[in-house]
Amino acid sequence: MENFEFYSPTRIVFGKDTENQVGLLTKSYSKKVLLHYGGSSIKKSGLYDRVVKSLRDEGIEFVELGGVVPNPRLSLVKEGIKLCRDNGLNFVLAVGGGSVIDSAKAIAIGVPYEGDVWDFFNGRQVEKALPVGVVLTIPAAGSEASPNSVITNEDGWYKRGMGSDLVRPVYSILNPVLTYTLPDYQTACGAADIMAHIMERYFTNTKNVDLTDRLCEATLKTMIRNVPLALENPNDYNARAEIMWAGKVAHFGLLGTGRVQDWASHDIEHEISGIYDVAHGAGLAVVFPAWMKYVYKENVERFVQFASRVWNVDVCFEDQEKTALEGIKKLEDFFRRIGLPVTMKELGITDDRMEEMASKCTRGGTSTVGNFKKLAKNDVYNILRIAN
Ligand code: NZQ
Ligand code: ZN
Repeated sequence: MENFEFYSPTRIVFGKDTENQVGLLTKSYSKKVLLHYGGSSIKKSGLYDRVVKSLRDEGIEFVELGGVVPNPRLSLVKEGIKLCRDNGLNFVLAVGGGSVIDSAKAIAIGVPYEGDVWDFFNGRQVEKALPVGVVLTIPAAGSEASPNSVITNEDGWYKRGMGSDLVRPVYSILNPVLTYTLPDYQTACGAADIMAHIMERYFTNTKNVDLTDRLCEATLKTMIRNVPLALENPNDYNARAEIMWAGKVAHFGLLGTGRVQDWASHDIEHEISGIYDVAHGAGLAVVFPAWMKYVYKENVERFVQFASRVWNVDVCFEDQEKTALEGIKKLEDFFRRIGLPVTMKELGITDDRMEEMASKCTRGGTSTVGNFKKLAKNDVYNILRIAN
């Protein structure tokens, strides 16, 4: 096991009707907030009205900024920074999914910084940030407790991430009932993202990480059991609750403790959603199995463990590679079963910009991605070809 530090300051308020506590939870941080959200979903569901009422009940003033789109854009972040400065707002409340939360986090680091907020997505360290609060509407990105934000710069369509403990939300409200209105495709995309967050940590060459292996496997199995139930009956509270909790558990840091993590599939996927504006989870359903087929020989044992413990595949001791490949196929079958694409064509991508994506992903071929196997530009290109 590797040395590690673990810090998880986000207060989680979980369960039915919890969004009505948003005013109370915000009050101790600020009385002047930016209310940030996406498209129409929170207005249609009535969530917007409940949040506004709760804020008003506590005497909290707010200025609102809607319009965050999936794969959130830098231009709206800049608008949010200006609104906060012009109105003296010192708290960002995100009501929505990963895109809204990530946009809120970017605004939170941009307000106290005099330079260009994009600097933080090019490696600049964060020194100061406004506090961010969250009412989550889709279990997927895990941004409700993560130290990350991923933003797309329309100038060149670069989708880049940043990380700092200073942007971990101070609280996140998780009410599974709010996810009943999700279209099936969004539920499935969210599921793929959650599973990917676990697998990016699971596929490691670090030895003696038994506890985190078992926690990863338990969380994956929870997803495999509950996602089909939620798709069958969107109002199944228990299934929705398991998925929502798994989404948080997958990505707040615990499952990666003591081990070297991979993250190549995420890096590759960000190039796809950056250029083609597809849902991040759908992109991952395409990239992850392809990545697995390309790298499994690096550590067949780990893939055998995945196949046997997560998918209950019988281990073929004479041919371990066969077992490993069967585990990968089970994952692919699961993604198909919940309605996700597993090839680029199924994702709707028919032109060929793989060379360009491989290049952007490895900064013009000057760096590698991933750790399970360090992937150079040519490797990324080969994975995209497998995904085709
Ligand atoms: O805009 P509205 O109308 O709200 O519709 C949204 C959006 O179209 C809809 N939606 C959300 N909650 C709903 C709902 N529709 C009906 N009922 C509800 N309850 O769902 C659509 C997708 O929303 P989005 O926020 O984009 O989804 P997600 O949470 O998957 O976030 C994706 C973004 O997060 C980034 C991704 O790259 C992507 O940009 N990630 C962020 C991470 C982080 N900060 O730690 C890590 C992840 O790996 C990921 O990269
Ligand atoms: Zn993700």
